[in-house]
Amino acid sequence: MLHAPAAACRRGCGCLKLKKEGKLPPLLVVEDDASVRTTIVTFLELEGYQVDAVSTTQEALDRLSKSSYPIVISDIYLDERTGLDVLEAARRKDPACAVILMTARGTMETVMAATRGGAFDYIAKPFELDRMLETVHRAEASRVPGEEEVDEEDLPLSEMIGSSDEMVEIYKIVARVAPTDATVLIEGETGTGKEMIARMVHANSTRAVQPFVPVDCASIAPALLESELFGAMKGAYTGADRDRMGVFEAANKGTVFLDEIGDIELNFQLKLLRFLQEGEIRPVGAARSRSIDARVIAATNRNLQKMVDEKKFREDLWFRLNVVRITMPPLRERHGDIPLLAHFFLKRYNGRYNQVARMIDTGLKTLNEYTWPGNVRQLQHMMERLVILAPGGRIDAPAVNTAIQAMQPTEQAGDSLAETEAEQIRRVLAATGGNKSHAAKILGIERKTLYRKLERLQE
Ligand SMILES: Nc1ncnc2c1ncn2[C@@H]1O[C@H](COP(=O)(O)OP(=O)(O)OP(=O)(O)O)[C@@H](O)[C@H]1O
Ligand SMILES: [Mg+2]
Repeated sequence: MLHAPAAACRRGCGCLKLKKEGKLPPLLVVEDDASVRTTIVTFLELEGYQVDAVSTTQEALDRLSKSSYPIVISDIYLDERTGLDVLEAARRKDPACAVILMTARGTMETVMAATRGGAFDYIAKPFELDRMLETVHRAEASRVPGEEEVDEEDLPLSEMIGSSDEMVEIYKIVARVAPTDATVLIEGETGTGKEMIARMVHANSTRAVQPFVPVDCASIAPALLESELFGAMKGAYTGADRDRMGVFEAANKGTVFLDEIGDIELNFQLKLLRFLQEGEIRPVGAARSRSIDARVIAATNRNLQKMVDEKKFREDLWFRLNVVRITMPPLRERHGDIPLLAHFFLKRYNGRYNQVARMIDTGLKTLNEYTWPGNVRQLQHMMERLVILAPGGRIDAPAVNTAIQAMQPTEQAGDSLAETEAEQIRRVLAATGGNKSHAAKILGIERKTLYRKLERLQE
């Protein structure tokens, strides 16, 4: 085993001091996969660390009971126990121990549990060894005794799927920001999971038992937005025959989710800014303001920064919303999540429609190669459609290509397709129990287009 040399850290991240001063006790690596373990150990030893490596949770706990380690690097899924047990034992022994967890199967729950347990960081596998080294260096540089514990309530299970590095980074932000009251701005293309993340932030906050009230700002006429959100007094406008409570009051003590925030008009932006600064709203027609305790989470698929530059969005409001920003990655930038999501939705819809559709490797390959302009929502609808319509329940390349073509927003089926189309419409309507909005979504067409097609079929 090599000892840490007093050589300059090539990344200049401040760990040299520690190496020079201390004969650092060895790092502990816990990894059941022998080849991954050897790779990590060899790499860290070449970098000058002493490394103790074990392959089971029990061995890790034994080591931790005998000696304390400043840094522990552990896989999460090991045997009947997990890296979270290693984390707990390491931190019980030495609260300042920096535990770095790694897994190829990161979920919201494991990241949450890791964060609550005080893990130093969480790395999604596969990772570059340099990335691991950089994390180890940060752990060394930041070693401070007695870190604070995070709240210990049980967290609800989620259905948020995705283990890519990009999603794990998002889970980490959610875990950190959820327990605070900070305003959160969620950006991202349509269907990337912005609302899901907003719900996740709320569900993991101290406000979880209070209401979460979503408002689609784009679907409310600008003239009505103020009274919808802030409420209105009797007589404030024609037809206001009684006092009306607004969304903010309904969400008092809870969370308001302002979806499509980029669509609100400039004069209402100012009123919203006042609420964010002073925590007060004034219902339309009211003489006085009222205090409201509501956390705001906003989302948009527009580029707010650009709107600020074009003077379409107030810069001060943007700053105020932008306390914590979460940018949802498009699905095409996290290909690793496509198989996970596809199988998740396959299972869901096979169950829902009592089907036994199967994913064939060529089908998965085609799903992987597609660019997903509608992101996870589009994949979800496509899997739902494939479960119902894939010939012989085989989700292979031709079935996926047909679905992709049929679900292009501009695609209009030609006459030659009329027969299969009629058959598809019938099958989808049967599966959805005649629900036309739902059927239109699965078929990838507008509801009114479906009505038109149905009329034609009856002619
Ligand atoms: N990571 C995920 N795991 C499972 N389901 C997901 C995930 N991301 C999104 N979805 C599903 O995709 C659909 C769209 O998600 P959501 O409504 O949160 O997206 P959005 O970003 O708010 O979209 P829009 O901008 O169109 O409002 C939902 O049905 C949601 O359940
Ligand atoms: Mg949304």
